[in-house]
Amino acid sequence: MNTKDTGASGSVTWQSPSNIALIKYWGKTDPQIPKNVSISFTLSNCNTQTTVKYRPKSSISEDFDFKIFFDQKENQSFRRKIEQFFERVVPYIPFIRNYEFEIHTGNSFPHSSGIASSASGMSALALCLMSIQKSMDPHLSEIDFNQKASFLARLGSGSAARSIEGPLVVWGQHHSIFKSSNLYGTKYSGEIHDVFTSFQDTILLVDKGEKKVSSTLGHKLMLGHPFAESRFEQAKDNMNRLIAILKNGELDSFIDIIEREALSLHAMMMTSDPYFILMKPNTLEIINRIWNFRELSGCHICFTLDAGANVHVLYPDKDKKAVRDFIDKELVQFCQNGQFIHDNVGNGAKLL
Ligand code: DP6
Repeated sequence: MNTKDTGASGSVTWQSPSNIALIKYWGKTDPQIPKNVSISFTLSNCNTQTTVKYRPKSSISEDFDFKIFFDQKENQSFRRKIEQFFERVVPYIPFIRNYEFEIHTGNSFPHSSGIASSASGMSALALCLMSIQKSMDPHLSEIDFNQKASFLARLGSGSAARSIEGPLVVWGQHHSIFKSSNLYGTKYSGEIHDVFTSFQDTILLVDKGEKKVSSTLGHKLMLGHPFAESRFEQAKDNMNRLIAILKNGELDSFIDIIEREALSLHAMMMTSDPYFILMKPNTLEIINRIWNFRELSGCHICFTLDAGANVHVLYPDKDKKAVRDFIDKELVQFCQNGQFIHDNVGNGAKLL
């Protein structure tokens, strides 16, 4: 039993991680269908913990009945997002109309750190709803449970589809990846070299402010973008190259793909109509310092970016000491209030 059940009422808690894309999802059609394949490392320390308390509604109504608490305080700003999520998922989990919910959620990373919480937040909520479904249908297999949790999470936020399992998750159809789907993320089933199962990611918090352009709007701007089709082809080709690298552990080629993907993502933003730039001067300063350090030290360090100014510094475990010394000495000065988070590849969400 996945829920602490008392009849039809109960409570369930999941901790779900954030993820960092290696091949980027940028561009989608309705309903949350990606224009290209993406793959991410599941993270470990950056996560959302969500508890959903549920009980049957006292009176029949069509409205969704829920309260949402963020860091113990009732939060109105998340209401609209959750209402929209409930509207999208109700055809697949119709029981949500018959219950009232109290949702308590919080992140392990600092509030408004600029780290996308939608992946960990939406996957944690989707998993809680799936646990409620499982309490009604105990025969649901683990594979079906995870697949449907990812399917529901995707409807909340595309990248959330990749936050159920680990260490590497693919979302979006790709001819070389068995069972890859546009509808849900799947644990990468190809061979994975040991070096990638302990990869490190230090997130440098360059700018913690509210983003000027949301990811949702950025995705929309890919429709009709002059370089969209070549970008989608590029992602497909990069995925082909990455499949071989994930197997042979060849880090120079890994670095080439990772940084190319990050810069292509931002190049799409800079060539949208309207165009925009999410990188900040310190983002570029960090990138240049990483390139210099890589050349001098021979460490297999590289960067990637999500839709913001923060820099994810990726490196293998063998280079941990040297890279962390370098971060302390040279990169922390470019972080807002000196803030950064050490994280590493993780194995997915946990039922608490
Ligand atoms: C740049 O998943 O945040 O991080 O589906 O509109 O919620 P929505 O977008 P979102 O987009 C993430 C974009 C990205 C790349 C990635 O994670 O693949």
